Amino acid sequence: HTVSTGAAQSTFVVNSPNVNYTESEIRSKYTYRTTSVETDANGNFVATPKETLYDFKVDRKVPKVGMMLVGWGGNNGTTVTAGIIANRRKLVWDTKEGVQEANYYGSVVMSSTVKLGADAKTNQEINIPFHNLLPMVHPNDLVIGGWDISSMNLAQAMDRAKVLEPALKAHVRKEMAGLTPLPSIYYPDFIAANQEDRADNVLEGSKASMAHVEQLRKDIRDFKANNNLDKVIVLWTANTERYADLIDGVNDTADNLLKAIEQGHEEVSPSTIFAVACILEGAPFINGSPQNTFVPGAIELAEKHNAYIGGDDFKSGQTKMKSALVDFLINAGIKLTSIASYNHLGNNDGKNLSSQKQFRSKEISKSNVVDDMVEANSILYKKGEHPDHCVVIKYMPAVGDNKRALDEYYAEIFLGGHQTISLFNICEDSLLASPLIIDLVVVAEMMTRIQWKAASNDGHETAEFKHFHSVLSVLSYMLKAPLTPPGTPVVNALAKQRAALTNIFRACVGLEPESEMTLEHKLF
Ligand code: NAI
Repeated sequence: HTVSTGAAQSTFVVNSPNVNYTESEIRSKYTYRTTSVETDANGNFVATPKETLYDFKVDRKVPKVGMMLVGWGGNNGTTVTAGIIANRRKLVWDTKEGVQEANYYGSVVMSSTVKLGADAKTNQEINIPFHNLLPMVHPNDLVIGGWDISSMNLAQAMDRAKVLEPALKAHVRKEMAGLTPLPSIYYPDFIAANQEDRADNVLEGSKASMAHVEQLRKDIRDFKANNNLDKVIVLWTANTERYADLIDGVNDTADNLLKAIEQGHEEVSPSTIFAVACILEGAPFINGSPQNTFVPGAIELAEKHNAYIGGDDFKSGQTKMKSALVDFLINAGIKLTSIASYNHLGNNDGKNLSSQKQFRSKEISKSNVVDDMVEANSILYKKGEHPDHCVVIKYMPAVGDNKRALDEYYAEIFLGGHQTISLFNICEDSLLASPLIIDLVVVAEMMTRIQWKAASNDGHETAEFKHFHSVLSVLSYMLKAPLTPPGTPVVNALAKQRAALTNIFRACVGLEPESEMTLEHKLF
């Protein structure tokens, strides 16, 4: 198999004594500047600038990567697969509006740019594709596979999904027909009863077992071997499950979770079984649905095995708008007092969510997204005070994948006045979610090739290079309810999430975070 190197893809080098390129690595020395705050005897804050010197090491060799989707035959699974095939083959097809070319719109990695700096002569901004910041995998090169409880091949499944244009489907039909999901695990209690008629491709046994874990591990190994892959990344885009009860002795620790699986405990969900299989197999696992797949025992297991996990729940439409708009309102000093969010959708996701327990998972993940922004502003909100926030989802078969989201934001402005913002967001759900799947996989893979070492004047030092924490919170931009390392804060604000992602990648090549100060245009 062929492997392209980062060097071939890079369109820039960093010219700095702190950055060193070798055939196989990019090494950078990066000074991370933060502010440490103490409270003095009078209750005043004392802010002390702090510096930590980090060494970053990036493996430049772009590996051959497999992407295995759980729920491959669903709307997202079929759409992202057809989309990658269309891009790989540079397809163009007829639509009623004219000729459409394959693209990666909606992918931060593939369709957004970052500022590299200012032109040495003209001072004009130079922007580069996000994808060129580091030697990332190209989505066209992903080998795709996966599981589904429905046996339809991907061509039949894309027809069932009713997302893609007929002319595009005609181009990819033959290739899609050759792709059939592996049988999966189905524990009926975890997804809506209305999904049962799809479940004709299932492994024996309807509750957790080590046999299931072993079979999934074997599936991953076989896929890797059969396609000559260096690495496999697994992503859950199957139905939303109900929450698993957190029970002491069952899913609270890594050992108890493994024991519970051996004993076939009924509170272990299929998604947790997938997570455990991936952790044990060393394949990064990302959860695109809202349920609590990562019970404490699963997180501990990932930490023990230095395996990467990320989640939860793709942030595509309504919540993405919310995490941008609320950030703006509260940072503008406007007191948001209520958010009423209604959704209706008619695809299979909507059908599954019409069941109360599965809806509850979604309600939880959609509800916590403003907490950090509210908490950060003690002028507008007293301790413990929150805007009213209500989320409603209804199943309306006729609108299919064209999800509707209606939001009313009600806010208090100067001197008791009010501002009402009403949003009506219509989007083809799977066309928004599919590029997020690509971003999650490409960024997660990149994170597995970055290592760090610290040296600082306060004795906080690491002797050996280490990897990032198992829980990849850097994926937050793409996720509604970001999972973070235990005990660390959750950031929901969209702009902060993007800044974290780009600035961490910049640091790996020795570039400062983008401060937006642009003094070069202000001091003359
Ligand atoms: P879908 O219902 O079309 O696809 C889910 C697929 O998972 C189905 O083909 C089903 O047969 C399969 N499945 C169910 N249980 C399984 C199991 N145990 N193992 C393997 N396959 C299984 O749903 P869609 O629209 O593709 O969404 C997928 C997930 O992503 C849902 O949980 C949804 O809530 C979540 N999500 C979707 C967003 C979007 O489409 N914009 C945004 C945020 C989250």
